[in-house]
Amino acid sequence: MKKHLNHIVFRTISEISAQENQECYVIGGFVRDLFLERPSKDIDVVVVGSGIELAEKVAAKLGKLRLNVFKNFGTAMFRYRELEVEFVGARKESYERHSRNPIVENGTLEDDQNRRDFTINALALSLQKENFGSLLDPFDGLKDIENKIIRTPLDPMITFSDDPLRMMRAIRFATQLGFMIEETTFQGIINNKERIHIVSGERIADELNKIIMTDKPSVGFKLLETTGLLQLIFPELQAMKGVDKVNGRAHKDNFYHTLEVLDRITPHTTNPWLRWSAILHDIAKPRTKRYDKESGWTFHNHNYIGEKMIPTIFNRMKLPLNEKMKFVQKMVSLHMRPIVLSQEVVTDSAVRRLLVEAGDDIDDLMTLCEADITSKNSEKVERYMRNFKVVRRKLKEIEEKDQLRNFQPPVSGECIMETFNLEPCKAIGDIKSAIKEAILEGEIPNQFEPAYAFMLKLGQEMGFTAVEK
Ligand code: CTP
Repeated sequence: MKKHLNHIVFRTISEISAQENQECYVIGGFVRDLFLERPSKDIDVVVVGSGIELAEKVAAKLGKLRLNVFKNFGTAMFRYRELEVEFVGARKESYERHSRNPIVENGTLEDDQNRRDFTINALALSLQKENFGSLLDPFDGLKDIENKIIRTPLDPMITFSDDPLRMMRAIRFATQLGFMIEETTFQGIINNKERIHIVSGERIADELNKIIMTDKPSVGFKLLETTGLLQLIFPELQAMKGVDKVNGRAHKDNFYHTLEVLDRITPHTTNPWLRWSAILHDIAKPRTKRYDKESGWTFHNHNYIGEKMIPTIFNRMKLPLNEKMKFVQKMVSLHMRPIVLSQEVVTDSAVRRLLVEAGDDIDDLMTLCEADITSKNSEKVERYMRNFKVVRRKLKEIEEKDQLRNFQPPVSGECIMETFNLEPCKAIGDIKSAIKEAILEGEIPNQFEPAYAFMLKLGQEMGFTAVEK
């Protein structure tokens, strides 16, 4: 590992800690990622003694770097070139039952390793002159990296109860790294799951978002479900699990379907909000589920009800209540439209209407719809995909011809009022809607001249007289 510590930052820390007669170690995620060959720029240095004092000296030596000191946490941080280096005094922690804030005491390296979340995150590399670069691995974390295992260093009852966010972290690391959660650790999550309620929504959302941004997010959601955490943090998604059967007719399990859609969309987008749209596209299915003899299972209006459920979910999860949420709502409300379109003869007017409603988000909507085809029947899938190709082609053709993406009526309300010398009244709105309809139906092109002529004719039919200019 010595060669990986050949950076001036590590050499300087080593030199200064020798002068100060203090022990220093690189610890945590950076060391884990070295062994996993995932380059990382966040370096945590633990100092047996004062982290802040040592950081001041190192920052001065490296060239008067700006140091951010967090006295309350006993930490100090500076940036050096591409690296972010954080110093902390080695500590021993104990926790109160109702808070994630620990009571901190100074400790040894061993105390510090004991208080860490997982064996793979407790690895330390020495920065001492005499054993520079050697690995201190009291819990066999390296073996766990090799065997791809997430395990707590201490009894999981202690590690998880101390900081329940670690339950989410265990699942997130398992998903990100493709690791298994060791059995006792897994049981520890089940036993401590209720303690997740002391964790803030923001922290939970952070971990959920990290799960969502992996290559196979379904892994994380399945683990959240089997541990019982999902019911506590995202009951709407939990409610989608299960299959009802009436007269031998069952509907599909919407939880597993949703996860399949999410996995299917990940190769096509790194936009977290499109991934969230995949998670939420059918969220109202449990609420709208009905059975009747003729049609079997139906989920009428689940797209609109789903759209309405989103602000409550985003608010609880402390996700942004801004245009990102509006985008997710739009995706959810429109997610059936291309499918319906592709099942019928694709008319120009239906394509125009979709273009006007989806606007610039039309490509994302198509991506979502293609991911939504999870049938096991390959013939059916192919048929859908072929039809979607037709829809995409038509969208392109019509967009090129009519430029409807950001539809603005070619004749404004003011123009209508001036033309017929009208005060604001309902008729103006009616004329505007009729012009829009005529464009969508393809009766007139989306241009001023023909729209103006159409307006003149319509106004006269309604009994208005155009003012001479
Ligand atoms: N840690 C912990 N318990 C937590 C959070 C962090 O014990 N709830 C410890 C772990 O040793 C971890 C280190 O603090 O490796 C740094 O935490 P952080 O920067 O949050 O995570 P990383 O492990 O570096 O991983 P990532 O950057 O992917 O979050």
